[in-house]
Amino acid sequence: MNIQSGFKEDFLWGGATAANQIEGQYDKDGKGLTSADFAEFIPKEKRTKDNHLNITSDHVKEVLTGEHEGYFPKRFGIDFYNTYKEDIKLFAEMGFKAFRMSISWARIFPNGYDKEPNEAGLKFYEDVFKTLKSYGIEPVVTLSHYETPYGLTEKYNGWMDRAVIKHFVRYAETVFTRYKKYVKYWITFNEINIINISPFTGGGVLTDKLENPKAASYQALHHQFLASSLATKKLKEINPEAQMGCMLARMKYYPNTPNPEDVLKALQDNQRNLMYTDVHVFGEYPNSYKKFLSDNNIELDIQTGDLEILKSYTVDYVSISYYMSMLSSTSPEGKVTAGNLMNSLKNPYLEASDWGWQIDPVGLRIVLNELWDRYHVPLFVVENGLGAHDKLENGKVHDDYRVDYLKRHITEAKRAVEDGVDLMGFLAWGPIDLISMSTSEMSKRYGFIYVDQDDYGKGSKKRIKKDSFDWYKHLIKTNGKEL
Ligand code: BG6
Repeated sequence: MNIQSGFKEDFLWGGATAANQIEGQYDKDGKGLTSADFAEFIPKEKRTKDNHLNITSDHVKEVLTGEHEGYFPKRFGIDFYNTYKEDIKLFAEMGFKAFRMSISWARIFPNGYDKEPNEAGLKFYEDVFKTLKSYGIEPVVTLSHYETPYGLTEKYNGWMDRAVIKHFVRYAETVFTRYKKYVKYWITFNEINIINISPFTGGGVLTDKLENPKAASYQALHHQFLASSLATKKLKEINPEAQMGCMLARMKYYPNTPNPEDVLKALQDNQRNLMYTDVHVFGEYPNSYKKFLSDNNIELDIQTGDLEILKSYTVDYVSISYYMSMLSSTSPEGKVTAGNLMNSLKNPYLEASDWGWQIDPVGLRIVLNELWDRYHVPLFVVENGLGAHDKLENGKVHDDYRVDYLKRHITEAKRAVEDGVDLMGFLAWGPIDLISMSTSEMSKRYGFIYVDQDDYGKGSKKRIKKDSFDWYKHLIKTNGKEL
């Protein structure tokens, strides 16, 4: 009986990004506005969850009429729209086998529902794919990474309306057809679970005027599940060789104490987090989720044929972002630490990043084992990395802390492979510094490549290799044998 020792030969090493965090040129060549274009940079001392992530209809209105002035970094990114050739060259120098990026739906269909696609947008991504392919880098493409076209918010309140499903499927069909030659690996929705935490970020849904925002976000999620299944159906018709993945922000919950009540709470929190991948892989809503809905008096509008669609078109692989683990407790007292849109009790065994995210490499091994045991489909880590304050001194960035973080996580990923997990690849989040999703900061840096730009977009935008650049290059060269 053979168990894989180390990473497989065709392991997909590389990095991951999202259109709205890198491209910039938010209104160039016919692109429409998206939900990401409303996220403002607010300095830490003034930032609250409400003014940053719970974007309201009044905020949107004021931004559109110009009554609300501010700096919106995701409109400007790091100007990848113009620099993609030199940036991809640097990825190639590190030996990337894969590069995850997203297509901005609003570059292809500016309002989301337009009759004809925008050729300039289609051409842009075609050029990016060609450049990647010229270096032998496999694109891994997310269809929707936190940027619903604003036209869909205006017309339908985003994913609240079933009508958005057909527009998404049309968008998917358009890009599957056009990029058939270039793209094998697709992902429908980035971190699909986030729609229930920040509905505007995850689905362009403004909930402040809705009667029951929580119920609304689950209805919007139902539409996204259907859209994901129908896009998968299309992909298989257009390109049977291609693979469709789902994507989950995997939040592993440990019980805070051995108290069975805490253990039960952790079980339920994990069930809630895994529900999303359960639907994508098994094609049905788990009973624990049905119970959750009924406990919360949420009744989904599920129409005839919906459940058959979910059952018929399931995913080929499960991809995750993994940054931290959380604690579950029935008596949530004690110190709170931050998370990616969520908070948790502090785990005394773990250190946290400068942003309070609890660093837990062993958690990655646990998560990969659990996902493999549950689903038995290939897994793909499509985001992991350390957001940190880097210092540029004499043209150098000594980011040994980033090397340490990634080394420890990749070691655990390797152990998971040796436990028997089928892992397709590992993509470091933000291989080049980019705009933070949760805080819209530039100073929260993840890259192997430094971008000379501050939180207000000021700077030369020069690309500078950090110490971690050579480390990652060597790791890829040795296929993870030399960490
Ligand atoms: C993931 C997102 O949640 O985490 C990315 O898919 C995001 O878009 C990444 O950038 C890191 O989060 P942040 O808030 O540090 O940018």
